[in-house]
Amino acid sequence: MNKQWWKESVVYQVYPRSFHDSNGDGIGDIKGITQKLDYLKNLGIDVIWLSPVYKSPNDDNGYDISDYQAIMDEFGTMADWEELLKEVHNRDMKLIMDLVVNHSSDEHAWFMESRKSTDNPYRDYYIWRKEPNNWESTFSGSAWQYDEQTGEYFLHIFSKKQPDLNWENETLRNEIYSMMNWWLEKGIDGFRMDVINFISKAPGLPDAPNPEGKKYVGGGQYYINGPRIHDYLQEMNQKVLSSYDILTVGEMPGASVEDAKLYTDPSRNELNMVFTFEHMDLDSGPNGKWDLKPLELKDLKDNITKWQTGLHGVGWNSLYMNNHDQPRMVSRFGDDKEYRVESAKMLATFLHMLQGTPYVYQGEEIGMTNVRFDSIDDYKDIEILNMYKEKVLEGSEPHESVMESIYVKGRDNARTPMQWNASDNAGFTTGKPWIKVNPNYSDINAEQAVQDTNSIYHYYRKLIQLRKSNPIIVYGEYKLIDDANEQVYAYTRAYEDQKLLVLTNFSREVAEFQIRDNELTTGTLLIGNYEDVEENLESATIKLRPYEARVYIG
Ligand code: NOJ
Repeated sequence: MNKQWWKESVVYQVYPRSFHDSNGDGIGDIKGITQKLDYLKNLGIDVIWLSPVYKSPNDDNGYDISDYQAIMDEFGTMADWEELLKEVHNRDMKLIMDLVVNHSSDEHAWFMESRKSTDNPYRDYYIWRKEPNNWESTFSGSAWQYDEQTGEYFLHIFSKKQPDLNWENETLRNEIYSMMNWWLEKGIDGFRMDVINFISKAPGLPDAPNPEGKKYVGGGQYYINGPRIHDYLQEMNQKVLSSYDILTVGEMPGASVEDAKLYTDPSRNELNMVFTFEHMDLDSGPNGKWDLKPLELKDLKDNITKWQTGLHGVGWNSLYMNNHDQPRMVSRFGDDKEYRVESAKMLATFLHMLQGTPYVYQGEEIGMTNVRFDSIDDYKDIEILNMYKEKVLEGSEPHESVMESIYVKGRDNARTPMQWNASDNAGFTTGKPWIKVNPNYSDINAEQAVQDTNSIYHYYRKLIQLRKSNPIIVYGEYKLIDDANEQVYAYTRAYEDQKLLVLTNFSREVAEFQIRDNELTTGTLLIGNYEDVEENLESATIKLRPYEARVYIG
């Protein structure tokens, strides 16, 4: 298998608004990040992914960009950003930037021109129609907004302040490529590409089938992995990416493993890896993310196995269980109360031992949890607020059940400030934080975690170090074993003449795992999340304690 630095790396995602505030305005900023680089270096990570720091009116916390080549005032200046890049590189780490080019902000100069008249040179940079179709916005309501100046509608798959760019327009595409080259010339090390598989829309933008006669319907089949997506990515690769040794990861809701093969097969010259959403959808019912359903371990096994085996030797996986759009993984897949430490370590073991590049989301390494704010007024996320308005204020759903969905799935779970220490506002800011801090910061914080050698933080350090000294963790071939076990997710990895056995108990009960002849029968414990492990691989049955994880190597 082709060796690459980005396969051997661990990426850490920073959501700047909530990471660290250096000037007391209650909003995280770039200087704040620079001040925390030693913390990240000590964790051992290789690459930092910065969620957007560009100029933005913040309708969607920076995912609505009004100038791709300027820094958001609240986050600092371009000089601050240059300093950050320098300091990251001084510590032998890398920096990748978020690229949000499915849409811009409606306050971007291109859109301000585009909306002026139907014959404006920028008109065709966006998608305008005399009549809307029936597509629904991801953030509720119609995906079309009427604009009085010209009496036409523009398409916005996300909020109405995020008009979709028209990738059919070659001049627009070239503007985007030159902007990307401009950042790469500044020395960045790659891009995370926001909903990049949405950029090619089906010709004619047809109405979606609507058997239930709803007001609006998804429409994703007309813009997800659309007809020209591979042409655009290959063109981008040729005009930009191929000139640099960088990491590229495409965020791709709705991409199957077959799609991912096409996106990440190196011989096709598109991207290094994609973020799949399939495992993030396993605990949703038929009505989408707010329709809560318990996760079945079997579904997780089936899904992860499909991706692990599907991309092996073809493309490459990215590994994540949370980010700024998802709830906290220990609350979602573990137990954020009694077994918070054990289950956070178990989940980390499960993920970091798979084949692919692991992504750690800020606060994950100290086991930060979901939050429950009593009032809807304490929530800030446009997705939550629009959904609440549609379902409760304008619809007939009860407040209580909608709040329950928000507690379980809302994006603000991941966006409460990073918990640095037990002082006021968790040491995130000396001012009033833009969103409330999770009240559990007096127990769960980085200072405590760094001091406690048994902490989740130190366990992550160890996992990351092991990856550096054991190529099997990066390159070994995955195989699911004991697939019928309802509590234990077990798999092996094989590389050259070595084998890894990964045992993870996803339940709060003791679980049993039977060693079979064809698996690893002699080996040593590489890492585990409980002390005093007595059994070794010679025992026929291994008993795993609640959320126990063990990795054997032989
Ligand atoms: C995906 C981003 O991760 C999310 O935060 C954002 O709201 C949408 N794309 C729109 O840019």
